[in-house]
Parts: sequence; structure tokens; C-alpha cells
Amino acid sequence: MALTPVLTAHWDEPDAFTIAGYRRHGGYEMVGKVLGADPDRLIQVVKDSGLRGRGGAGFPTGLKWSFVPQNDDKDHYLVVNADESEPGACKDIPLMIANPHAVVEGCILAAHAIRARRCFIYIRGEVPQAVRRVRAAVGEAYAAGFLGRDVLGTGIDVDIDVHAGAGAYICGEETALLDSLEGRRGQPRLKPPFPAVAGLYARPTVVNNVETIANIPTIARNGAEWLRQMGTEKSPGFKLFSVSGHVNRPGVFECALGTTMRELLDYAGGVRDGHELKFWVPGGSSVPLLMPEHLDVPMTYEDMQAAGTMLGTATVMVFDETTSVVRAISRWIHFYKHESCGKCTPCREGTYWLEQLLADFELGRAAQGDIAKVDEVCKQMFGRNFCPLGDAAATPYAPALKYFRSEFEAGTHTPAHELFDPLASAVFTPSTVGAAP
Ligand SMILES: Cc1cc2nc3c(=O)[nH]c(=O)nc-3n(C[C@H](O)[C@H](O)[C@H](O)COP(=O)(O)O)c2cc1C
Ligand code: SF4
Repeated sequence: MALTPVLTAHWDEPDAFTIAGYRRHGGYEMVGKVLGADPDRLIQVVKDSGLRGRGGAGFPTGLKWSFVPQNDDKDHYLVVNADESEPGACKDIPLMIANPHAVVEGCILAAHAIRARRCFIYIRGEVPQAVRRVRAAVGEAYAAGFLGRDVLGTGIDVDIDVHAGAGAYICGEETALLDSLEGRRGQPRLKPPFPAVAGLYARPTVVNNVETIANIPTIARNGAEWLRQMGTEKSPGFKLFSVSGHVNRPGVFECALGTTMRELLDYAGGVRDGHELKFWVPGGSSVPLLMPEHLDVPMTYEDMQAAGTMLGTATVMVFDETTSVVRAISRWIHFYKHESCGKCTPCREGTYWLEQLLADFELGRAAQGDIAKVDEVCKQMFGRNFCPLGDAAATPYAPALKYFRSEFEAGTHTPAHELFDPLASAVFTPSTVGAAP
């Protein structure tokens, strides 16, 4: 399968992130047309296209929009989730830096569809470059009349606020994000009510991932059938796949859904020279790992599920034979423990215990019964958390144990660093970053 550059088509042009660069390729052409038409038309096109949300769960976008009550005389809001913080995820931030106007135009069109006059783009605050780029793009769109009062004489007002988050992974969870946006501590809300009914300021709200929103102008321009020519029936379209880790050429590759990991590895220049693939993760640290034998499984929502994992955000991490699985899992658990918001007991306590148990394996001082103990803690956590973060923390261990049990057994007597030299698996070493050894 070939690369399908749509959102990435012009990233190598020096002014791709400016309004002039964006308009040169048809950018903002749909604003007048869509805002002059019935909002339901765009909802139907997006429904027909089969576009699925790019934030991880793959929920159908058009269907989500149609849940927003119409003609209810309430303010509606569009909230764009640009908090990308999952370990391994690196596609929304490059997208915002290289093509911020696709996000802005997507906001204008999507806002019209859901009858919102105000959008909020919530960006991970640790990436000031992305915040600056999107703010500049919003400023240019106001100056060109695509935002503000009476956009292009259509009688419709659309405003965008760009908000920089304070850097908490949980604020990517849509209801925690809404709390954070309202000025409260970011913690997930009880659902129902779902945001479509009572979201931001208790008003009907759609929360969409930034890549989902950036898809909207191209779908509005080219139609539902155009999107369906790519991908599969259940996973239509193209996707930004980021590939990181032990590859020769890490990066973001835009391909049709259904592309295989073998093809992605080719785009990424293969596994590091002189090394071989040990395992890989298809969609960020929250999804179960896969093995070399899964290289030919099509990367769609349905095929990944059938293989026992999830496509998630399609942000792939590649690990070669120098990697200690115990150390990798231990790092992820450390992340989840640090990012647990503490609202519910299974996640707050479970991540605390998991971190300590995994550290024991890593240091080679785990007890014989600890393999079963970790398994038990994960089982106690899974499905009992208030939000998916706790489930994500309990996810990596079981597949790691299934494929690499001997490494956990070794953790009862030998430290991981004696079996796997950390410097051998490091991507950035003192010599590659030019620091004194
Ligand atoms: C802990 C956690 C973190 C999340 N982080 C993000 C994120 O950074 N970006 C994102 O779009 N969705 C994230 N999500 C998923 C959102 O809750 C939500 O499903 C998504 O923004 C919906 O957009 P979509 O329908 O366009 O995929 C996260 C979910 C959880 C549980
Ligand atoms: S699962 Fe974790 S992050 Fe989610 S609400 Fe509970 S404590 Fe907070």
C-alpha cells in the first residue's frame, strides 16, 4: 500500500503553516459553501464517509455530532482535544506545527455542523511551538474574515480560543479536559450525562481529536465516497501513523488504514541497522504489545482488535532485541502512577503497587510469587476504574508476560540492566546528542 499524503501533502513547503501556504492548495474554500448550507448536510457527509475519531477509541464522528440536541436554544461548544500526551504518541503535535490551518478550517466547519459558535482548542502546554503555531493560524483566520462576526457574510459567527493545558495526561480524557477548561482540577466526570448533552459549562459539547477535526475540510471538499476509497469498510480513510523507537527513520507517515506494520517499517527505514525486531506496540502505551508474527496484520480498528490489541492512536513504538521488556513495562507503569489523578481507588492504589512490584523485577529482587501478584493486581484493577487510564495501566503486563515470561522470572535474581545494557537500547546516547561522555 502506498503513502496517501493528504494532511501531510505540503509539509515540506516552507510556508505550509501560513494562511497563504494553506490557501494555495484550496484551503478555506469550503468555509463559505458549508456555512451557507444546512448544518445537517455536513453531518450526513461525515456520517457517510465513515470517519472514525482519531483520539484512540475510533468512535464514528458523524454519529457523535448527531447526538448533540438541535434547536434547543442553548449554546453549543466544539472542543478540540490536542492534549496528546500518551507515551509514544507523536502525530497531533507535528500536525499542528506543520498544518495548523487544517485544524482551524476543520473547527469552523465542524462548529457549524453542531450549531456551535465557539470552539476551544486545548493544546498540551508543554509544547509551546504548537500553541504558538495554532494561535498564529487563528489570528490569520480572523484577519482574513474566516473567524469572528458574520463569517464571509453568511450571518454566522465563529470564534476560537486556544488554551494551553498545564501538562497532565489525564486532561486528555475528554471530561477531565472539560473540567480543566472550566478552571477546575482536571479529573474525569461521571458519565452520563455525556458531553453531547451536558459538556462544557453544562452545555451540549462535542469533543474531537485534533486529527479528526483536520480531516473535515478534505471530506467536505472531496466527499464521503472519496474517503471510502481508502481503508476498509469499517475503517475508512487515511491516518497519521507515527513510528518511533528502534527504527532508522522515525517519523509520521500518512497511509490508508489497513496498511501493515511491515509496510510502515519499510517507510521508517527498517529496524535499526544490525538489530532485529523484538516486539512492537501499535497505538501508544495503553494498548497490548504485538510480536514480529503480527507484522502483516492490517492496521485497522477491527483487525487490531482481532489480534488482541487496539489501533488506539496508531502511534507505533518499535523495540529491538536490546530492549528489556521488564524495564519497558516498568517505565510505562511509572508514567501511569505519576499521571493517575487519584480519584478512584483501583487506579490510585493499583498503580502505586504495580510501580513497586515492577521496580523489584527490574532490580532483580522480586520474590517467586510476585509474577502472580502483579497478575492479580492487574486483574483487580481492570474494568474497575472510573476512567480508561486505570485500565490502560493494567494492560501492558499480561501480553508482556505471555511472550516474555523468562524475563520476569529472571527478575527474581538478576537485575534487568545486567541482562540488557540500557545504553545498548537507548536511542539518544551521550554520543548521539553530542554531550560529554
Ligand atoms: C487518559 C486518557 C487520555 C486521553 N488523551 C487524549 C488525547 O491526548 N487526545 C485525544 O484526542 N483523545 C484523548 N483521549 C480520548 C478522549 O477521551 C476522547 O475519546 C477523544 O478526544 C474523542 O475524540 P475523537 O472522537 O475525535 O477520537 C484520552 C482518553 C483517556 C482515558
Ligand atoms: S482511573 Fe485513575 S485517572 Fe481515571 S479517574 Fe480513576 S484515579 Fe483518576
